Amino acid sequence: MSGPRTLIVGADGEIATALCQSLTARGWPVVTTSRRGTPGALPLDLSADPVTWPALPAADAAVVCAGFSNIAACMRDPAGSARVNVTATAALAERLAGQGTRVLFLSSNQVFDGALPRRARSDAPCPVSEYGRQKVRTEETVLGLGARGTVLRLTKVLTPALKLLRDWRAALARGGAVTPFPNFPLAPVPLSLVVETATAILRDGASGLFHCSSADDVTYVALAESLARRFGFDAGLVRPTDVQAATLGFDWLPAYSSLEMVRESTSLGIKPPMAAQVIDGVVAAL
Ligand SMILES: NC(=O)c1ccc[n+]([C@@H]2O[C@H](COP(=O)([O-])OP(=O)(O)OC[C@H]3O[C@@H](n4cnc5c(N)ncnc54)[C@H](OP(=O)(O)O)[C@@H]3O)[C@@H](O)[C@H]2O)c1
Repeated sequence: MSGPRTLIVGADGEIATALCQSLTARGWPVVTTSRRGTPGALPLDLSADPVTWPALPAADAAVVCAGFSNIAACMRDPAGSARVNVTATAALAERLAGQGTRVLFLSSNQVFDGALPRRARSDAPCPVSEYGRQKVRTEETVLGLGARGTVLRLTKVLTPALKLLRDWRAALARGGAVTPFPNFPLAPVPLSLVVETATAILRDGASGLFHCSSADDVTYVALAESLARRFGFDAGLVRPTDVQAATLGFDWLPAYSSLEMVRESTSLGIKPPMAAQVIDGVVAAL
């Protein structure tokens, strides 16, 4: 069934790749941008001066997936990452909206400080990382677009491609220890749920603020334990080890990362999964 003509900005990324595949399989017309010359994609590097950007194709909606997605990388290069994640992304959103395209911006639970679980969308943002502060500023621009602006906040998107999982599996398989963080929260969502939520927003032409999160929080220890269980590795090799906030790019560490999903449940029919269910599903797919 055909849907809105959709532009995916930053189509080589993990979420964008899955979204492109899913929309294309549904028969939606999809156009893409890439900064690395992927064939068929419009070249667009958000770190280049906006006056040099190519004309953006006409589309009903655009999903902005491009940018610095690593929290520690934003801390290491606050000016360079802000130029892409804030200045350029805001300019792009305004340019797209100006030519009649609805903009869906992928944001994060890191707009909050992680002091509370299942954070409400009515709560004021209170980030504790450079990455989170950048997301807040860009959210403001996108939500300022009114009916043409939509923000989708995601918690950690957990996939079998995560390098950490492969490294842990390899270490445990050779009898080595792994050191997951007991003091860092995880409210994992599967890629399929992110794609489902974004697709429903695009289909309905919905604007405003949306969340995609698991229903509860666990820590990275639960992830390592699930992995050890699944493959029959010695559970004693899972050695919880605290991490320092600065190592991960935070001012201080959040205790929770989950977001409430009341609007998604009632208006899109999308319910948050339990964290353990998401973890076991991803580990089973390794
Ligand atoms: N994955 C998660 O757990 C998660 C959670 C919350 C929010 N998000 C947000 O969701 C969005 C997508 O995340 P993701 O995990 O799919 O990220 P990703 O795999 O790291 O993809 C990011 C994409 O952005 C592109 N990019 C980086 N700098 C660019 C620039 N200057 N100009 C144009 N493109 C640029 C990258 O290009 P190359 O491929 O050429 O490097 C890459 O394709 C991000 O905004 C991220 O903050 C993700």
